Amino acid sequence: MTEPTIVLTEEQITAYHRDGFLAIPAITTPEEVEWLRGVYDRLFAQRAGREDGNQFDLGGTDEEGKEAALPQILDPKRYAPELAEGLFRVNALAVARQLLGPHAEARGEHAIFKPAGTGAPTPWHQDEAYWDPTLEYNSISIWIPLQEATLENGCMQFVPGSHRNEVLPHHSIGHDPRVHGLEVDAAETRGAVACPLPPGGATIHHNRTLHYAGPNTSSIPRRAYILGFGLASRKRDTPRRFPWNEIKQTARDARAREARVKSGAMGSM
Ligand code: NI
Repeated sequence: MTEPTIVLTEEQITAYHRDGFLAIPAITTPEEVEWLRGVYDRLFAQRAGREDGNQFDLGGTDEEGKEAALPQILDPKRYAPELAEGLFRVNALAVARQLLGPHAEARGEHAIFKPAGTGAPTPWHQDEAYWDPTLEYNSISIWIPLQEATLENGCMQFVPGSHRNEVLPHHSIGHDPRVHGLEVDAAETRGAVACPLPPGGATIHHNRTLHYAGPNTSSIPRRAYILGFGLASRKRDTPRRFPWNEIKQTARDARAREARVKSGAMGSM
């Protein structure tokens, strides 16, 4: 069994709880980054998950034949089982348990590809705005670039302390309910911190931390692999609604529904 090779310092743990994010220079080795990049590029080239609704455009309306602004694959290891192994994953779990406690578990993962020269910005948002509003969360996302991440190609940016906010009102990008990606209606983003990283570094952020990534104006694609970890979510005492999700009508959901019908998973419904 692979043992973790990194341990966060007390200073790093304190900084995460104070700021709602943390950047670390290495979560895996250069060799593993190269391997991951190969698998990653293959999955996007094969459009893995497209028919299931697990590959879709986060930043556009996602019509067939239209170039995606921000292609994303949910749960890439479903389409490349070798991704279930690896030092990046072992180290990420170890880091998650240092920050959230020994009961932290994996909570889903995805890959976001930002094409060279054209990749759209990922607007300011809080990840929790995508989720079930009836639950209470304590989770982190670990964002790993598979090449250098720079201001020019869309490295992550965070508003320190914003994880102490409630979930702010959001809307689909461009106010178009066909777009999966969300943008916060209004937020104070002065004082935001950009986190350039070497390949195989990582940023770690809380589910309420406001974050953003710029467009990719460079000549190379920006590949990011994102691992989620969290404690068990529980029902909230105070009800709330995320109306921006209730009105969504994405092509991706239509494909996922169709795939479920085809596979018979709908049963007698
Ligand atoms: Ni996000």
